[in-house]
Amino acid sequence: MGSRTAGRRFLAALTGPLELALDTSLEATIAGSFSRIGYQVRARSQHWKDPQRLDEHVVLVTGASSGIGLAAAATLGRLGATLWIAGRDPDRTDAAARQAAETGAPRVETAVVDLADGKAVDELASRIIRTERRLDCLVHGAGALVREYTESPDGTEQTVATHVLAPFRLTWRLRTLLRSNPAGATIVTVTSGGMYTQRFDLDRLASGRDGYDGVRAYARSKRAQVVLSHEWAHRWGADGVASYAVHPGWVATPGLMAGLPGFARLGPLLRRPEEGADTLVWLAAGAARSPAHGTGEPLARDGLFLDRRRRKEHYLPWTRAADPLEDQRQLWAWCARRTGIATGEGRTR
Ligand SMILES: NC(=O)c1ccc[n+]([C@@H]2O[C@H](COP(=O)([O-])OP(=O)(O)OC[C@H]3O[C@@H](n4cnc5c(N)ncnc54)[C@H](OP(=O)(O)O)[C@@H]3O)[C@@H](O)[C@H]2O)c1
Repeated sequence: MGSRTAGRRFLAALTGPLELALDTSLEATIAGSFSRIGYQVRARSQHWKDPQRLDEHVVLVTGASSGIGLAAAATLGRLGATLWIAGRDPDRTDAAARQAAETGAPRVETAVVDLADGKAVDELASRIIRTERRLDCLVHGAGALVREYTESPDGTEQTVATHVLAPFRLTWRLRTLLRSNPAGATIVTVTSGGMYTQRFDLDRLASGRDGYDGVRAYARSKRAQVVLSHEWAHRWGADGVASYAVHPGWVATPGLMAGLPGFARLGPLLRRPEEGADTLVWLAAGAARSPAHGTGEPLARDGLFLDRRRRKEHYLPWTRAADPLEDQRQLWAWCARRTGIATGEGRTR
């Protein structure tokens, strides 16, 4: 071995633990971790590269008409993925599709759908099943912090309908495409750091009109998204399905400005949408379960990610679940009941 190669290996052996120490210290600061500083420090110190190309891959992104979903769709298109762009507003959805096509996506399909409307979700799934032979990744990006109590067409509070019931319904309807993918399909759910403030509690998940608090409803539904995300991996992992939750960090988007305008004070400390979308795209490309991703991290088929690393799901002791698998089972049964879907699937503990 040449002395230069040996030197490089020695440096690489040193840098791994140093990067990890830097990343861990950043994580402990929370604000440093979630802000643009966290993204920049990690991307530079860990020498992030583009994930693998996604030619022939078919990816559905909900919430693709704005913010993080819009940026994710553009990057996925640049990597060669065929895209399904789901948005709620027709003009914004068309504009997002044009942008994704310009970045190089070989084919872009659009769907205008209010995800809080179960019938519309079913129609979207049927269209995809009729059109596609494969689905490689399903990104649950749609979300909003709704300040005033609002109900979905079936009378469920809007936040939980959009963040929990819609992903449950859409994923269930698309399960055959996902589970039959020989390369292994991926589900990515965009959660939020707000979930760290809440314990999963099924009895409090669907808010009523009385005493409605949009921030709390948002945080509870974001915690539930993580629980549901684990359950998909638990049920379908044996079929090659990986399911991750991702926290994008604090990102300057129309959604953040509308839901939590106080964040505008952070100005340049907020991430850009493409930075908030980075880990989502990285997971969609299968990097967390591929030995080729080269970060030295253990491979994962589930878990909560931020900045290309699996992260803690609890900072506050009282948010921990006594029995996480039981929470997952209960949430699944609740979603099945509320959507009227008879899943009829056995489940191992
Ligand atoms: N920005 C942040 O700092 C941050 C932090 C943590 C988590 N997140 C999460 O990241 C995701 C994207 O948020 P963003 O900040 O990028 O906000 P955004 O710019 O408002 O984008 C949200 C997207 O979701 C769509 N959407 C919301 N409710 C919908 C519904 N019922 N049916 C269909 N589409 C719906 C929106 O459609 P319209 O354009 O029609 O509204 C939009 O395309 C959300 O899940 C959010 O909770 C964001």
